[in-house]
Amino acid sequence: MKNIDWSNIGFGYIKTDLRYVSNYKNGEWDEGCLTEDANITMSECACVLQYAQTCFEGLKAYTTADGKIVCFRPDLNAARMADSCRRMKMPVFPEERFVEAVVKTVEANSEWVPPYGSGASLYLRPYMFGYDSIIGVKPANEFQFRIFATPVGPYFKGGVRPLTLRISDFDRAAPRGTGHIKAGLNYAMSLYAIVDAHEQGYDENVYLDSATRTHIEETGGANIIFVTKDGKLVTPKSDTILPSITRRSLLQVAKDYLGMEVEEREVSLSELDDFSECGLCGTAAVISPVGKIVDHGREICFDIGESGMGNTVKKLYDTLTGIQMGTVTPPEGWVKVIK
Ligand code: PLP
Ligand code: COI
Repeated sequence: MKNIDWSNIGFGYIKTDLRYVSNYKNGEWDEGCLTEDANITMSECACVLQYAQTCFEGLKAYTTADGKIVCFRPDLNAARMADSCRRMKMPVFPEERFVEAVVKTVEANSEWVPPYGSGASLYLRPYMFGYDSIIGVKPANEFQFRIFATPVGPYFKGGVRPLTLRISDFDRAAPRGTGHIKAGLNYAMSLYAIVDAHEQGYDENVYLDSATRTHIEETGGANIIFVTKDGKLVTPKSDTILPSITRRSLLQVAKDYLGMEVEEREVSLSELDDFSECGLCGTAAVISPVGKIVDHGREICFDIGESGMGNTVKKLYDTLTGIQMGTVTPPEGWVKVIK
């Protein structure tokens, strides 16, 4: 294992040994390989540079309590990336090959998988982009699919602590747009809003539905969960949010492991006061407790217990991370053992 102070790394890029690359040309993907070369050389007119034809995924590999290396539901990342590619007019990288490529990338960088209990993990970033020169507005003909690995710690600066969010005046996704896929363009347009939020002292933006601006959607990089005062898990349902794998997993964990009632439905801005707890969920965010949402001067505060997390959010966190790190028995097919 590499000699790194695993408990003190943040969510940043650390170059690891090998990354996976496959090229698409003349209508087919090549056999793919691992390479030491972390740089990409392309045309000045590459479609990704001119028209942002790119999408990506994010998943993590962990060291379990008994020393195995595993990753969490990579088949769902493969399926979501296929959806993103179809919407972006990019060729699908076959889903089984996606999972194989994840396994190869983790195996090749196994010394970079942080140890059990460190709080860190190996983040995998699969992505695809239009590679050949395109100047009229149309899809590329040639594409590259890659996966790199980088060890990461907590997504939010300062580790697990109650976050302060604000209701954003900017919108993230239009009805019938691309909010439900993981296209780079959804993140490009959020950069102005995130820099502004940080400058104003907020950790993240909560976006509303852009059609009516009355419903809660999600944040720039994570879905939102709420707990009602009578212990129900509620999460926004919308066609314009990213279908988070963490959120889908948490709904099942809440029902089957914690015996909770769960509701996936529209959540209106005006009902925030009815919730007792709030959290952000995602691969990078894991489950991050939310202490406060600020809506233009109106402050909605949530229970953050003594540990910085409300009781129910803590139970969800412990169960989900227990499943990921091998201390809680996973549902069939959730954990892929790599070595
Ligand atoms: N929402 C957005 C906008 C994201 O970027 C992410 C991160 O992937 C998520 C939600 C969480 O999704 P997942 O749990 O699949 O990582
Ligand atoms: C992830 O959670 O994997 C993401 O891609 C979110 C991003 C904001 C880092």
